[in-house]
Amino acid sequence: MPYRFDEVIERAGTNCVKYDARANVFGSAEVIPMWVADMDFRTPPFVTAAIRKRAEHELFGYFLKSEGYYQSIIGWMQRRHGWKIEKDWIVFSPGIVPALNMCVLAYTQPGDKVIVQPPVYFPFFSAISNHGRQLVYNPLEFIAGGYRIDFEHLESVIDSSTKMLIISSPHNPVGRVWTAEELRQLGKICLRHNILILSDEIHLDLVYRGSRHMPTASLGEDIAQITVTCIAPSKTFNLAGLSTSSLIIPNVELRKKFSRVIDDLHVSNGNIFGAVASEAAYREGDQWVDELMVYLEGNLAYLESFISGQIPQIKVIKPQATYMVWLDFRSLGMEPQQLKDFLVFKAGIGLNEGSVFGPGGAGYMRMNIACPRSVLAGALEKLKNAVKARE
Ligand SMILES: Cc1ncc(COP(=O)(O)O)c(C=O)c1O
Repeated sequence: MPYRFDEVIERAGTNCVKYDARANVFGSAEVIPMWVADMDFRTPPFVTAAIRKRAEHELFGYFLKSEGYYQSIIGWMQRRHGWKIEKDWIVFSPGIVPALNMCVLAYTQPGDKVIVQPPVYFPFFSAISNHGRQLVYNPLEFIAGGYRIDFEHLESVIDSSTKMLIISSPHNPVGRVWTAEELRQLGKICLRHNILILSDEIHLDLVYRGSRHMPTASLGEDIAQITVTCIAPSKTFNLAGLSTSSLIIPNVELRKKFSRVIDDLHVSNGNIFGAVASEAAYREGDQWVDELMVYLEGNLAYLESFISGQIPQIKVIKPQATYMVWLDFRSLGMEPQQLKDFLVFKAGIGLNEGSVFGPGGAGYMRMNIACPRSVLAGALEKLKNAVKARE
């Protein structure tokens, strides 16, 4: 492998959230950080080279997105996800969380209901409630070892004030890759009730062998017309600090509504380096992502084998996608805060505590495994020792 995912790179002291916010977030600056969703891997060399080349011009005034920027997104979506999109459908956003908030503003009114399916990425909740919209839960069901959408419950919570559903696809934190059938069923329900689907597909490229991501809007023209899709190179290529993402909106009226909000806020331009990095990543990144997924799959296999063999009290919910692993700690019988403190102060590892992901999250933790295997191995060893010491 030409890329070295095994290399341990010092990040502490670079003002990075994952390391340098540890004292604030965990009450200890010493934990092995396995929380916020960025990777401890070097950003690909072809991305860094593109940024360097642009920096050498030494002039960073207002800028336009190049034709190559759009074509690289179109090419990536066609090559990697089999979805043929048009240039006009692509709308820039300086991040997906801002986009979720702006979509809530663009497509709903105060008091309207928006459905989410917890346990789910928690900024979905604030994107709804911060703007005076009603948050409605359709919790995922856990059946036969896997998470499912509860379609019956979904229909039961919909009424005439329900205007939008936000789906995480693939799903953070439980790692599901929703099948075409599941997404079609969801689409049918939303079509029947006139509900807009906000499909947050930021993790779309990080899918393990055996599963295939289907963009929700690629499942049919009718579904495409009610769907706003969010994608970004940020998770895939470790570019979160560049605040660059895209919405794909085939429906012209929906596009206009979103553009009105983002233009009013004057945040539709983004930054030069994000645009340059995005273009390079989508144009040249196929092999890098393929190798990244092989490495992550190795990390996942290591974690599964270590936990089932040496810490069987913890259950791994095996993800089909994403480098976040949802771990069931319920057999330890701890309250959420107690569990978090145990992991921080006894095991020395910093994970995301499950209850913040909403109903169904208490007793679980989310672990970020996008780190060199040696770091993962060290963290698991510490976890094993802490659990043993309790017995
Ligand atoms: C589902 C999901 N959406 C959005 C984001 C963050 O997006 P951004 O950094 O572009 O705001 C994350 C990051 O973890 C995520 O998991």
